[in-house]
Amino acid sequence: MEPDEVAAAFDELEAAGKVRAFGVSNHTPRQIDVLRTAVRQPIVANQIQLSITHAPTVAQGVAMNMAGETQAQTLDAGGVIDYSRVEKITLQAWSPFQAGFFNGVFLGSPEYPELNAVIDRLAAAYDVPTIAIATAWITRHPAGMQVVLGTTNPDRVRAAAQGSDLHLTRAEWYDLFRAAGYRVP
Ligand SMILES: NC(=O)c1ccc[n+]([C@@H]2O[C@H](COP(=O)([O-])OP(=O)(O)OC[C@H]3O[C@@H](n4cnc5c(N)ncnc54)[C@H](OP(=O)(O)O)[C@@H]3O)[C@@H](O)[C@H]2O)c1
Repeated sequence: MEPDEVAAAFDELEAAGKVRAFGVSNHTPRQIDVLRTAVRQPIVANQIQLSITHAPTVAQGVAMNMAGETQAQTLDAGGVIDYSRVEKITLQAWSPFQAGFFNGVFLGSPEYPELNAVIDRLAAAYDVPTIAIATAWITRHPAGMQVVLGTTNPDRVRAAAQGSDLHLTRAEWYDLFRAAGYRVP
């Protein structure tokens, strides 16, 4: 990226009243720092890929540098979650229900029996749809993340939104994390 060029574009868009708040997408902390060498508007959001089944940015911090833990080393994006908390940048989770990279949702998928068993148990306990539990796993994180829904189905939007007010216990949150295949040392 060329920060001066981006800064000029941001200034023009802001002056024209077309954009009120600026964010980035798939940026590492250092990339945001590079951008900030020229951009004067606050960067308020960063969209990253995040779902229960694709959570390396969360999992890295759980494993830290432990030997034998692949989740300790990969895809943590330069500590983007901790950086965002320090810098007050809101993370927005894209593909929140996709198992991986646009390869179908994990909800109800026979490939994730353990995870769906925990999701079903919590959905029954809280009397909400399963998609609300998957939403709550993201919004319950103390970084104050937002969820970028891909569906245009109004019923699914309403069902997912029920999760944003659902405060999972820490035990429930870690149950979901472990059932998705991550380890808690
Ligand atoms: N910043 C980036 O680099 C980036 C990258 C990718 C995406 N995004 C943004 O993130 C948004 C969300 O991404 P996504 O579409 O991959 O997210 P998603 O909400 O995880 O997936 C939604 C897709 O899954 C389908 N789906 C099938 N069964 C579903 C179920 N039981 N519950 C929910 N959805 C189900 C939906 O179909 P129906 O429509 O039929 O419900 C929809 O096509 C996108 O619209 C895009 O704006 C940003």
